[in-house]
Amino acid sequence: MPDQSEIIAALFWQGEIGVDEALDEQPADWTRFAARASAARRAPAPPATPSLTLGPTRAATPDRRPPVDAPIPGLADARSLVAGVTSLAGLREALTRFEGCSLKHTAMNLVFADGNPEGKIMLVGEAPGEDEDRLGKPFVGASGKLLDKMLAGIGLDRTQVYISNILPWRPPGNRSPTQAEIALCLPFIERHISLVAPQVLVLLGGTAAKSLLNRAEGITRLRGQWLDFHIPGSTQIFPAMATYHPAYLLRSPIHKREAWRDLLMIKSRLT
Ligand code: URA
Repeated sequence: MPDQSEIIAALFWQGEIGVDEALDEQPADWTRFAARASAARRAPAPPATPSLTLGPTRAATPDRRPPVDAPIPGLADARSLVAGVTSLAGLREALTRFEGCSLKHTAMNLVFADGNPEGKIMLVGEAPGEDEDRLGKPFVGASGKLLDKMLAGIGLDRTQVYISNILPWRPPGNRSPTQAEIALCLPFIERHISLVAPQVLVLLGGTAAKSLLNRAEGITRLRGQWLDFHIPGSTQIFPAMATYHPAYLLRSPIHKREAWRDLLMIKSRLT
């Protein structure tokens, strides 16, 4: 039996590594869901669903999403909730009704989006942090301040761009989202992008780039080039530029130079 000081030390250690909230009575083995989610994403694509009439159209692309019967609890619900959504208000409402992601129960607020949905550019980050969770708005903390400066560098502000995240709820203690959480939230952000139909999509950081582009490479490889983002199961395609996440740039300012090059490519695409 550990003595009291060992128990207190263990609690402090958990707090230090970001385990600051209890999600359930019993520990869950999230690595099991992660393995299922990545296996499901490699599974053959199901038949394409009818497309929305928004955005540029080309031949229908295969649906990369896991099949509806993939064993990720809540995924079928997520898909059926977004299926009937035709407006941003409807999408927000669908998220408030979605009970499949446990992050919702530890977060204070839904963090849906900020900025101008009519803007030419949509930026997608990873997940809200503490400040965003408190205020219910994306990118309002330290990395948001850097993002605002980056946008100002190419003559933009939040009245001209639209900002959201892969996950609309904060992971407790700002831990990285699991593959299962990402898979559960993808149908919502994919529909979000489809409804906004931006001229240019900017993916901030590896989580946004890898999960939306369905690529295994890291951000260092993916950034700095125009890639096609296909809305799964539809004919909508958007030009996407991945770049470093502002939080990473705060930790590694040496990479601001490459991020600046990415921003200039975005600027020249817009003009
Ligand atoms: N980091 C993100 O990826 N999104 C936010 O909204 C804030 C920080």
